[in-house]
Amino acid sequence: MLKVSVRVIVAVLALVISLLDFCASTEKIPRKWATFSANITGLSRYNVSNVDVKEEILCSILATKDGLATNLFCFGPKGCVFGQVYLPDVEGEQTPDYSCYYSQVCLHDNKTLHEGEVVPSPICLTCTKRGMVNLTNDVPPLTSCTPPFVQHPFGCMYFNLKTMTLCEARAYCQSLGAQLASPTTHDNFLALVAYLLATYGTTYQKPFWAGVYYINGNHSYESNGRWPGPDGQYEWFADQPNYGGQDCVRFSFPTTYRLADDFCTSKNAVICHAWNLEI
Ligand SMILES: *[C@@H]1O[C@H](CO)[C@@H](O)[C@H](O)[C@H]1NC(C)=O
Ligand SMILES: *[C@@H]1O[C@H](CO)[C@@H](O)[C@H](O)[C@H]1NC(C)=O
Ligand SMILES: *[C@@H]1O[C@H](CO)[C@@H](O)[C@H](O)[C@H]1NC(C)=O
Ligand SMILES: *[C@@H]1O[C@H](CO)[C@@H](O)[C@H](O)[C@H]1NC(C)=O
Ligand SMILES: *[C@@H]1O[C@H](CO)[C@@H](O)[C@H](O)[C@H]1NC(C)=O
Repeated sequence: MLKVSVRVIVAVLALVISLLDFCASTEKIPRKWATFSANITGLSRYNVSNVDVKEEILCSILATKDGLATNLFCFGPKGCVFGQVYLPDVEGEQTPDYSCYYSQVCLHDNKTLHEGEVVPSPICLTCTKRGMVNLTNDVPPLTSCTPPFVQHPFGCMYFNLKTMTLCEARAYCQSLGAQLASPTTHDNFLALVAYLLATYGTTYQKPFWAGVYYINGNHSYESNGRWPGPDGQYEWFADQPNYGGQDCVRFSFPTTYRLADDFCTSKNAVICHAWNLEI
């Protein structure tokens, strides 16, 4: 008898705590759950937690707790199964007597993202039902330097003065079978910036995106991983990079063109570069 009442008290306390958590969490991330057909028989304790609850609503409350980034919960005869799961691996014939739901979230750098949200750096990653995926399309890389691209001594490039965010610029170049400008040698960098100065220097003083990314605490060109040099030297302006969440990089004016870091959401002009032809 005593045992039962302890269990009841624990259950009631757990419910109250869950409800408090639920109210707190819904303020931060509104979570949407959609039905999902999942075969959960192969999931291990590593992927999901099992909790003996008697109501589906309790299961959904547990799964909605902030910070968990749970993307799947299922309720069935043995209670609640929930966790962060790679959905394509479990999508299939529904496990009998269970109903499953997925929420459109991804986990990236301990942050919860919703389906459709983009992390611009280092590569434009998009949160999808399948997790974080690269923003790519089916356009194959150029196999020769054809218009609108022009073969310059420093690479096969196409200059477009329309301004775009980093991810828009990347997608634009990919749609042409190329990538963002990423000179494969220091000499090519110098030749490119001399060309920019000669061509746009006095009339068009706008920056262009560079295919340089800040990865694991260091900058590198995406073409071949080349290092643009120590802060404030070599290919950088004297006061650059100055960080502060500026994870993307541009060829910047005035006086001459050098590298500067920038917010990935800034809008800059675009240089598409078929650097695959060089490496
Ligand atoms: C569910 O997955 C298990 C392995 O994880 C597999 O053996 C079983 O055939 C699957 N069931 C259905 C109905 O697809
Ligand atoms: C389960 O976890 C393992 C180890 O992290 C992982 O490799 C696997 O993809 C996970 N399975 C699913 C279905 O998410
Ligand atoms: C994510 O969180 C875990 C545990 O709280 C911590 O050990 C890890 O360093 C964090 N990772 C990042 C990238 O912040
Ligand atoms: C994205 O693409 C890069 C190469 O372009 C690759 O190294 C990386 O693993 C990919 N990331 C994901 C999440 O697919
Ligand atoms: C960045 O990478 C370069 C080349 O690999 C290396 O020489 C340099 O010390 C690195 N800098 C930092 C801050 O890790």
